[in-house]
Amino acid sequence: MSLTRLIAAACVVGLWLLLCLWAWRRARRHEAQQAQALHALNAPTPEDTLLVAFATQTGYAEALAGQTADSLRAGGLTVRVAALDQLDLTRLSAYRRILFVASTYGEGDPPDAAAAFAGQMQARSVTAASPSATTRTAPALAGTQYAVLALGDSEYARFCGFGHRLDDWLHAQGATPLFDLVEVDNGDPAALRHWQHHLGLLAGRSDLPDWQAPVYDTWRLADRHLMNPQSQGGPCYLLTLTPPAGDMPQWAAGDIAEIGPRHERGGPVQAHREYSIASLPQDGAIQLLVRQMRGADGGLGLGSGWLTHIAQAGDDIELRVRANRNFHVPEDGRPLILVGNGTGLAGLRALIKARRAAGHRRNWLVFGERNAAHDSFCQEDIDAWRQDGTLERVDAVYSRDQPQRRYVQHLLREQAGAVRSWVDAGAAIYVCGSLQGMAGGVDAALQDILGDDRLQAMQHGGRYRRDVY
Ligand SMILES: Cc1cc2nc3c(=O)[nH]c(=O)nc-3n(C[C@H](O)[C@H](O)[C@H](O)COP(=O)(O)OP(=O)(O)OC[C@H]3O[C@@H](n4cnc5c(N)ncnc54)[C@H](O)[C@@H]3O)c2cc1C
Ligand SMILES: Cc1cc2nc3c(=O)[nH]c(=O)nc-3n(C[C@H](O)[C@H](O)[C@H](O)COP(=O)(O)O)c2cc1C
Repeated sequence: MSLTRLIAAACVVGLWLLLCLWAWRRARRHEAQQAQALHALNAPTPEDTLLVAFATQTGYAEALAGQTADSLRAGGLTVRVAALDQLDLTRLSAYRRILFVASTYGEGDPPDAAAAFAGQMQARSVTAASPSATTRTAPALAGTQYAVLALGDSEYARFCGFGHRLDDWLHAQGATPLFDLVEVDNGDPAALRHWQHHLGLLAGRSDLPDWQAPVYDTWRLADRHLMNPQSQGGPCYLLTLTPPAGDMPQWAAGDIAEIGPRHERGGPVQAHREYSIASLPQDGAIQLLVRQMRGADGGLGLGSGWLTHIAQAGDDIELRVRANRNFHVPEDGRPLILVGNGTGLAGLRALIKARRAAGHRRNWLVFGERNAAHDSFCQEDIDAWRQDGTLERVDAVYSRDQPQRRYVQHLLREQAGAVRSWVDAGAAIYVCGSLQGMAGGVDAALQDILGDDRLQAMQHGGRYRRDVY
């Protein structure tokens, strides 16, 4: 063998050895990281530690779990991050709050690494579904609050299938959602900004910069009108925004306007705000119902302060429409029960307009506010829709017009028979407005009226939809 060949062979062997060494060290590092993570998981959990659990194939969900944890830590929360395969029910039950970031593969399956956890979910579901009289299992996660960020791709039939399975399973284990599952189609940054809105509320920080800032169009504030003079609640305004020159941008009823607020009529800030669109493209403008919010220090809220106080008629507003498929109207004429409070009427107003345009008239509006004298928003619209038959039934519930507080959920309970008969006739239920108080109260009322199984089946079938914040 020539010397050149010998040297070449030695180089190949050397390279191969280096590769083996690199692979061995990588495996050891991974093992050490796993052991460290397990050790951290097994350590006593300081009270109020929030767990972020992820299920990933290629690392995207893990990266988002890390960003989620960073946002929460920025608000001073104590956070642990763990892969789903390091967890079981016992470990999960040590946490009061858990956020899940989970992707989907194949036929709605989990990523490979989470297969064992999914097996536990299956086993637990089977036991819970057929408990003998003596072995009835108590909900293992009663007292746990959770949220799910479901990653997927809507090109697949079982879009975000595993995220939804996880959500159902957590519900069946007695856990309570902090807010509704957020679906992310192909890494959609708008959906991730929506997740960030919820993280901001959890972290008590409304100034966290967006992970990925929206690209806005420039709209114009054409008109702003106070809807509730002398209300006991915060001032609420109807805003009319006219589009940039050119073709009218399109959106569907139920979609959301993302706004880029400014501190003053100058510099933009790095956080967006979301508002339900209250109009249709054929109205020629985007209308919003915005409640002016103030922080504990009395300072104006970033987004609502910009829209209701700082910006003036004629000013430019940075705006972008986010599709919100989950809150679009059904294509057919099935009955709709539309439930909302306060500015939640914005989303419902757009839905009713869409139903009217489609000639679908079996609509029942249940709306709640404080006092009839000051808070009957959009009354002219509602009266006109009653008269032209767009709204078959309207119930307004004013919480402070009588000594006992009375909310939309109370009305639904009183009207349980009517709710059941509308649902028996195929109705879908749409809820828009406050997450705190209203959404949970309405959900509990509907569970009692319709039964948990039926309500869950309606949710799976797209007949129970919420846009709550
Ligand atoms: C999908 C979606 C649709 C929405 N639609 C509307 C709408 O149609 N009309 C509308 O007025 N608002 C709507 N919101 C809420 C809106 O996005 C802002 O959260 C709200 O305007 C407050 O933001 P801010 O910047 O003015 O206040 P911030 O500067 O964020 O905070 C000011 C104060 O308000 C509190 N706060 C902030 N956000 C909320 C909240 N959501 N609930 C309770 N307290 C809060 C903070 O704790 C703080 O005390 C919607 C939110 C989402 C996610
Ligand atoms: C082979 C393959 C199969 C997939 N199957 C589904 C599916 O059934 N449903 C779905 O919603 N998304 C599906 N996806 C999309 C992934 O869930 C999505 O890309 C996700 O962001 C991946 O996150 P991860 O890298 O953290 O696992 C699939 C992707 C690939 C590559």
